Amino acid sequence: MPDHDILFRNARLIDGTGRPSEIGDLAVSGNRIAAIGDLGGASAGQVIDADGMALSPGFIDSHCHDDRAILDMPLLEPKVSQGVTTVINGNCGVSIAPVLPDRPDAPPPLNLFVGEDYRHFPDFNAYFSALEKTPSAVNSACLCGHSNLRHAVMDRLDRAATSEEIAQMCGLLEQALNDGAIGLSTGLYYPPATAAPTEEVIEISKTLANHGGLYVTHMRNEEDNVIQSLEETFRIGRDAGVPVVVSHHKCVSQPNHGKSKITLAMIDEARKHQSVSLDAYPYAASSTILQPERVAKCARVMITWSDVMPEASGRDLSDIAAEMGCSDEEAAKRLLPGGAVYFQMSEDDVQRILSYPDTMIGSDGIVQDKHPHPRAWGTFPRVLGHYARDEGLFPLETAVHKMTALTARTFGLKDRGILQVGGFADLVLFDPDTIIDVADFANPCRAAKGIDKVFTNGICTWANGQATGARPGQPLRRG
Ligand code: ZN
Ligand code: CU
Repeated sequence: MPDHDILFRNARLIDGTGRPSEIGDLAVSGNRIAAIGDLGGASAGQVIDADGMALSPGFIDSHCHDDRAILDMPLLEPKVSQGVTTVINGNCGVSIAPVLPDRPDAPPPLNLFVGEDYRHFPDFNAYFSALEKTPSAVNSACLCGHSNLRHAVMDRLDRAATSEEIAQMCGLLEQALNDGAIGLSTGLYYPPATAAPTEEVIEISKTLANHGGLYVTHMRNEEDNVIQSLEETFRIGRDAGVPVVVSHHKCVSQPNHGKSKITLAMIDEARKHQSVSLDAYPYAASSTILQPERVAKCARVMITWSDVMPEASGRDLSDIAAEMGCSDEEAAKRLLPGGAVYFQMSEDDVQRILSYPDTMIGSDGIVQDKHPHPRAWGTFPRVLGHYARDEGLFPLETAVHKMTALTARTFGLKDRGILQVGGFADLVLFDPDTIIDVADFANPCRAAKGIDKVFTNGICTWANGQATGARPGQPLRRG
């Protein structure tokens, strides 16, 4: 009998903590890391010569909308091909549970998980059970969406909730947390939640405090009022007594470029008194539902999908408008409902936010889109190859930290995100000299270069440039 199942020899071990890498061996037994160091005398069922390669904890995607994708496309190639072993779902106020079966008439983006059929789960227990029955290649934790709660208990969403409705939402959130959801997400920017006053969110978030849950937000405004929105977020955290996470932090549209100097200083200051985290994706363009009123503020808009004109996918809105002989805004109206990529950030802000020591990396990719934003396939290799290695924005060890240990600590994922004996064997073997994203805006569905092998819970999910077919992922329930 060999000592271990897998033995990596002479790897550059990047342990996730951010400290300098070291050359060494790492052994896996079952789903855990069994030994690290000079393991010269050890034997294993599979020995991998990792000379010249980096071995790090599997990447944790801190901001995902893969709630449904991990059931429908369980191999999740867009993410696994990047080295992702865990996804955090249920972001931006929208989660696949709880949704009440008698109300499938959800307004966007609440209908994010409507596909061939309307897929919903009455509660998180039903959802996690489904994931255990038909597992994915990745582990997943999930937030409970505030917009789901509103949709479940309110007759209309264009008003504040009554105290009775707030109490009902607290009850549903309590159940979600007991079933294993890790916190609450809001999408105060989006129509189902714009009418929710700060006080409503504070009252609901108080339920989190007793359960160690966190508050994660797509803020009310990421443009002219980004500063006010940050203040609102801090206040929700303080008044409810909970840690907050600012999702996909950015400063949108030209007059706000450069404001990240102010917002990051505000976050620094707030962190002296309360727990504040943030994540970002490594691109100067965003993507969400198609909103005609938004297109005038963008340098360029690309259509990701349109129900009425499927052939618009991947085309620039201005080209479509020219063909239609109308304004960009009018063309956008005619394409509804749809999705779009908006080019409206500054590269300086993107780099400043990525460089902030406590910024986690999250893709925010919509993997089921026909022509998605390239972040769905490129986020992690882009940070490692483009920003860390080629641009020299930070050391490779720092880049790995932002996608592993920092994220595991923020979301309370036990025994993940660090190479340590006894920790789960979520691992990525990659070539630090060649790793790079290949997906771009023209061709967004392309696997990155330089990812050699990926392991989730000790099982190989990606090798030789393709998914192995293994589905060792687990739902990570809170606690
Ligand atoms: Zn969002
Ligand atoms: Cu999002």
